[in-house]
Amino acid sequence: MSPQPTTAPTAKEQGARESLTITDNRTGKTYEVPISAGAIRAMDLRQIKTDADDFGLMTYDPAFMNTASTRSSITYIDGDKGILRYRGYPIEQLAEESTYLETAYLILNGELPTAAQYQDWEYKILHRTFLHENIKTHMEAFRYDAHPMGMFISSVAALSTYYPDSAQISDPESRLIQIIRLIAKVPTLAAFSYRHHRGLPYVYPDNDLSYTGNFLRMLDMMTQVKYEPDPVKARALDVLFILHADHEQNCGTNAMRAIGSSHVDPYSAMAGAAAALYGPLHGGANEEVLKMLTQIGNIKNVPAFIDKVKKGEGRLMGFGHRVYKNYDPRAKIIKRTADQVFRTTGVNPLLEIALELERIALQDEYFVSRKLYPNVDFYSGLIYQAMGFPVAFFPVLFAIPRTVGWLAQWVEMLQDPDQKIARPRQLYTGYDARPYVPLYARGNGHA
Ligand code: ACO
Repeated sequence: MSPQPTTAPTAKEQGARESLTITDNRTGKTYEVPISAGAIRAMDLRQIKTDADDFGLMTYDPAFMNTASTRSSITYIDGDKGILRYRGYPIEQLAEESTYLETAYLILNGELPTAAQYQDWEYKILHRTFLHENIKTHMEAFRYDAHPMGMFISSVAALSTYYPDSAQISDPESRLIQIIRLIAKVPTLAAFSYRHHRGLPYVYPDNDLSYTGNFLRMLDMMTQVKYEPDPVKARALDVLFILHADHEQNCGTNAMRAIGSSHVDPYSAMAGAAAALYGPLHGGANEEVLKMLTQIGNIKNVPAFIDKVKKGEGRLMGFGHRVYKNYDPRAKIIKRTADQVFRTTGVNPLLEIALELERIALQDEYFVSRKLYPNVDFYSGLIYQAMGFPVAFFPVLFAIPRTVGWLAQWVEMLQDPDQKIARPRQLYTGYDARPYVPLYARGNGHA
């Protein structure tokens, strides 16, 4: 018998402990801190003190670059391999086979619905799409050219005044009603904000249509007796909604959890999450991509633009990601969806420039060595523009599907015994105590 190859035993096989030994060089003392799931608990560092009066060691981590703020079983991302999964299901399969409402059920409940569960869920959502008439009046009061995202955020917050029962955040039944209301009503709020922005009369929902078919009708309906949503556009929106449904602890979701941790109602918390999404570094990046492509203007200007980016004069918008160091899996799917949309709408003339940018960047040492690949925003703006949406509406189109992610993460936070009110520490850098100086004694300048 030939000898079996041997490998050196791993540290674990040798009986190594799952812990970290820390020596505090200030005192010479040594501490052993347990490691669990690849992390240590920051609170375990508090015992590390120079003397009894010392507060104890903290970690300093602005922007949460290396801090897990929660355990979560909703969304998994492997940024190096370009993997995104909801509840274990690959995003590619969901985008191919599922619908947004089915994916929303999965994200909230952890399992795909049975046929009966799906029918019940879909019925409940599609029959709660109407808004109280006073919400409409409230929205009508916005300035004629109000930004749709500002209208959306304020109207989501206003919903809490219509549903005071939503303060019962510990009651699972009440939570479920608010979740159904929010998922059902966000397309109506979004469509009203869009019609307002364009100076058009608001269109009421049609509950016989699908989630995205009804949304398209509320956006586009003019004088038709019967509006038939374009199936290609409705499916493309459904796919885009699936891709944007959740993305673990991003800026908006972190805001949802932090605000929700004070036990405020979900409408108020979600208004805060949507406000976080509004920023150009988050849900507003696809708008920046369109501006950049328009500014480049012609495919022949692409090499000069790339050279400027490499010299540090501006960024290639829609490229790079804090977590993905590989092709963003959502960008791949969006690129395919764009081809289908362009077949019915005609090709967006900016697409040629985008493709050339991508072609050059993916073989250029600057982008390759920094692992900069197209992210979700690189192509989504092109589809939205081809579908006729104004740029100002893009963040609203992101907020509609993200609603379910925010709500699933909110429920997970409320049910997690490890969670408390979110309240970070700070490293104080200001003055020590100093006596108050009365106004008459302050002179002309600062003391
Ligand atoms: N174009 C050119 N260079 C870039 C880009 C880019 N888009 N992104 C990063 N780099 C470079 C940086 O200059 C830096 O280079 P250096 O090491 O020589 O200094 C290196 O790559 C690392 O960049 P960081 O800024 O440290 O990476 P970080 O993880 O903090 O930033 C971010 C991620 C904000 C997404 C960044 O890549 C970026 O600004 N991209 C453009 C904006 C964008 O598309 N945002 C959408 C993100 S997806 C979403 O939020 C839904």
